[in-house]
Amino acid sequence: MIRRVFLIVLDSVGIGEAPDAARYGDAGSHTLRACWQTGRLALPNLQKLGLFNIDGVGCGHPAARPLGAFARLREASAGKDTTTGHWELAGLVSSRPLPTYPQGFPPELIAEFERRTGRRVLCNRPYSGTQVIRDYGREQMETGALIVYTSADSVFQVAAHEQVVPLEELYRDCETARALLTGEHGVGRVIARPFVGEYPNFQRTPNRHDFSLAPPGETLLDALAAAGRQVWGVGKIADIFAGRGLTRTVRTRDNSDGMEKAIAWAKEDFCGLCFVNLVDFDMLYGHRNDVEGYTQALNAFDRQLGELLPLLGPQDLLMLTADHGCDPSTPSTDHSREDVPWLIYGAAVRPGCNLGTLPTFADVGATVAAALGVDYPCAGTPRDRLALRPTPGCDCGELARRALQARENAYAPYSHFAVGAALLGEGGRVYAGCNLENASYGATICAERAALAAAVAAGERSFAALAVAGGPQGQPPAGDCFPCGICRQALSEFCAPQMPVLVVRGEGDWRWYTLEELLPYAFRL
Ligand code: THU
Repeated sequence: MIRRVFLIVLDSVGIGEAPDAARYGDAGSHTLRACWQTGRLALPNLQKLGLFNIDGVGCGHPAARPLGAFARLREASAGKDTTTGHWELAGLVSSRPLPTYPQGFPPELIAEFERRTGRRVLCNRPYSGTQVIRDYGREQMETGALIVYTSADSVFQVAAHEQVVPLEELYRDCETARALLTGEHGVGRVIARPFVGEYPNFQRTPNRHDFSLAPPGETLLDALAAAGRQVWGVGKIADIFAGRGLTRTVRTRDNSDGMEKAIAWAKEDFCGLCFVNLVDFDMLYGHRNDVEGYTQALNAFDRQLGELLPLLGPQDLLMLTADHGCDPSTPSTDHSREDVPWLIYGAAVRPGCNLGTLPTFADVGATVAAALGVDYPCAGTPRDRLALRPTPGCDCGELARRALQARENAYAPYSHFAVGAALLGEGGRVYAGCNLENASYGATICAERAALAAAVAAGERSFAALAVAGGPQGQPPAGDCFPCGICRQALSEFCAPQMPVLVVRGEGDWRWYTLEELLPYAFRL
């Protein structure tokens, strides 16, 4: 049904502290609100989709009629880094955060790295990348040793002068480190940091290269690629997934370039996922505590979003989310443990559908797979049956209302269980039915078959959708009321296996299934 999904990660755009934020030193962090408080945040497109309608956002103006479906997502993984966040979005929950080394790497590990590379190691501490070459560059050049340093992130960085350690060798040394740094010491990235120049004017070169940790299990990307779908990565995506599961990738200069690439790819025909990371929010503004810059970057994104929206066709979905927070208004320059937004937009989306607060980012991966019709069991729950319409043309809300209305007329003095059904004919007419009980219990007629009988009597034989609402009489339907076995069999006489069946819980609250899911292998003569 859905052919293309555009999943855009606004790196670090959190929407308020997670319940366990205090354990990460991030109580009170709220990246989006920090920008809102400048008074200069202008996000008409995000607002329209429902950004400010999300549970607990607590800033901005909610849209009266949001165009998208929306949720507040909570990170189930331990940690608050880019890799963990993206892996979880792609279905993998990490029970341990990626390791960091505030005291430097363990001596045994460094000794083994020295043995395998045949070069001594200098520094081995957290350090600023520019400062570390000023302080150790000369010794590096004199001795041929490798400068190893880290940061607050899970990184093992190796710096060497390009004239002392040739690039190919430096990259090989990084691969050696990568092979060594697994399991307990599986750092997120090993990074080659070559530099050139003379003391004290060393400069880093653009030959930086990242060696990422491969995801520890099957991701959404792997599942889609295995099912023959296109998986396109824009920006850092290829690094974050160590290239796995991607069928096409492109790097980007900045956010604006990332959006231009997404816009260009939206003009191409493909079937699958286009996964975009926009890192400027985090790298340029969040970490530098630049609230104004962050605000302007969001405004610029919103303008480019306005160019992407009209390119989406009836079989496209756009999803916007984030991987963690990085509140630029707090003293910390580090990421913040925050919940993140999830906006879903497209012709197939049920506008204004509030999915509430969801327990894992992995619901995104599960939903993308389900929407694209790919089987991908993972830590998340697919939300497509709630957030998406079964058929773009069908006014399911109206059909659900008609089922609730018919339910009011149920004759159920024995069971006190009232059921209403509304069957939509191909021509657009709706046929209603309710249950009709009898003192001779077995003579009872179900709501669905009552609707079906009314339709057939009116000459209707082909149907587009069915809605069913049922529950204890005099109360709104509480749980899901599925058609009974006999009704399923009766429906399969007239309805296509792919016909959607809406199980209605209340006005605007329904899930859908196909008839075939409810009755596989129906009886046929
Ligand atoms: N009922 C329906 O109307 N449809 C179904 O598919 C299941 C059951 C009614 C029949 C009866 O009046 C009441 O629910 C309790 O079984």
